[in-house]
Amino acid sequence: MNNFLILLLFVFLYISNVLTDNVIPESIKLAFTKSKDEIRVTWYTIDEGESPTVLYSTEMFEPIQDPSFVSVGDIISYDTIGFDGKINTAVMSSLSQSTLYFYCVGDKSSNVWSSTFNFTTNQFNAQFGEVIPFTTSFFGDMGWIEGDSLNSDVYTVNNLLSRLNEIQILHHVGDIAYADKETSNNLPGNQTIWNKFQNSISPLSSHIPYLTCPGNHDRFIDLSVYTKTWQMPVDHDGDSWYSYDYNGIHFVGFSSEHDYYPLSSQHTWIEKDLKQYRRSNPNGWIVMYSHRPFYCSVVWDWCSNTDVSESKKIYIWSLEDLLHRYNVDLFISGHAHSYERSLPVYKNKILGDVNSPKATVHIVVGTGGDVEGEDMIWQPSQPWTTGLRTSINGFGLLNVINSTTLNWQFVANINNTVIDEFNLTKGEFDF
Ligand SMILES: *[C@@H]1O[C@H](CO)[C@@H](O)[C@H](O)[C@H]1NC(C)=O
Ligand SMILES: *[C@@H]1O[C@H](CO)[C@@H](O)[C@H](O)[C@H]1NC(C)=O
Ligand SMILES: *[C@@H]1O[C@H](CO)[C@@H](O)[C@H](O)[C@H]1NC(C)=O
Ligand SMILES: *[C@@H]1O[C@H](CO)[C@@H](O)[C@H](O)[C@H]1NC(C)=O
Ligand SMILES: *[C@@H]1O[C@H](CO)[C@@H](O)[C@H](O)[C@H]1NC(C)=O
Ligand SMILES: [Fe+2]
Repeated sequence: MNNFLILLLFVFLYISNVLTDNVIPESIKLAFTKSKDEIRVTWYTIDEGESPTVLYSTEMFEPIQDPSFVSVGDIISYDTIGFDGKINTAVMSSLSQSTLYFYCVGDKSSNVWSSTFNFTTNQFNAQFGEVIPFTTSFFGDMGWIEGDSLNSDVYTVNNLLSRLNEIQILHHVGDIAYADKETSNNLPGNQTIWNKFQNSISPLSSHIPYLTCPGNHDRFIDLSVYTKTWQMPVDHDGDSWYSYDYNGIHFVGFSSEHDYYPLSSQHTWIEKDLKQYRRSNPNGWIVMYSHRPFYCSVVWDWCSNTDVSESKKIYIWSLEDLLHRYNVDLFISGHAHSYERSLPVYKNKILGDVNSPKATVHIVVGTGGDVEGEDMIWQPSQPWTTGLRTSINGFGLLNVINSTTLNWQFVANINNTVIDEFNLTKGEFDF
């Protein structure tokens, strides 16, 4: 009898556990891996499922039926006060190029699934050195607050959604969600805001790879929430720097929030990556991004020539030579809540112009929309300044034309209209 009661209790506990576990997929996002024929999908659940799984197929399918491909993933737990829940991540592999795939994620054992999403793979078997036209968006400093103000991500997300068919990759260059701004109980980050932000970008990130680098507002809890949430194509687990190739362009994202001094592991990695790429692709495009700019001219600590900007001097001293030596064509950042772009510039000297660049062109696009608002006051115009400087909200579009021309556009969020544009010709820097 005793044994029977104990058994009954176990059965009860088991059933109630199964019934109350919430493994409904939330905040679904795609990213690249180190393999060109793979796409990673990462999603959030409140409780831990037994078998986080992605189902995918070139045909539309219902999760009830067996799709062509099944891949079981991993679960990464938060182990931090104030942050709980599970990060599920799985890789879709052996994909074909230029192909539309349908997928859904969920927990196989409890048979709980997301709706079906789709994505299209790029032309990853193109001829060596061939550049295939595509468009990618760049924006930084984008967070979430209740309502539909310009100080939230609503405008950027909606304007990008209106261009969904034209964009192949999204790049968020740091300061993601602003979850460190609104906290009580001395908690370092607010998970409600962190999760609401991810849910609000989900219509984009479930369809188009969403690539990130960390910003200062992502540093809370030793960047561990950031690193777990955003599974990027890193060489080593835990790194916040990575590179990948897409349609003939080499992208390098790195962290201005980790050590970047010469001999640091990040600095060593960046130099190795650039050197390797340049050895085999002397004339290929390199687009690099990070949260903090090298060149910016708002009146604000990082950009001013004052005390705080001492750390900017070290940043420049540590990294600008690498950009120049390895012919990094374009560098894109945020941090300043403003938009501006430079002429080709190295060590404050203008070298050529956009038709014949002899140095990196720098763009600041920290205008995604966040709770702090825009930086409105400008320093006197710098010699390297060109085109427009503006504090209005918006996002960038990098249109890759071919092996000799890139086109850049800045879109104002208020009317979803291009208000700045230029063409950059491939340059060969003297070194
Ligand atoms: C793929 O997903 C996008 C974005 O959700 C949607 O607009 C489109 O209709 C889908 N395509 C197909 C073929 O289902
Ligand atoms: C997190 O932010 C939400 C939304 O602004 C707020 O209601 C809540 O009180 C915050 N939670 C904590 C623990 O600070
Ligand atoms: C690249 O596109 C530009 C602008 O359309 C054009 O002038 C140039 O000839 C093209 N270059 C190549 C190599 O196709
Ligand atoms: C869009 O808004 C920007 C910023 O207010 C303004 O400069 C531009 O003229 C507007 N363009 C159109 C087509 O309305
Ligand atoms: C950039 O090049 C394209 C293609 O040649 C051209 O249509 C466009 O007007 C150019 N844009 C600018 C701002 O020069
Ligand atoms: Fe920042």
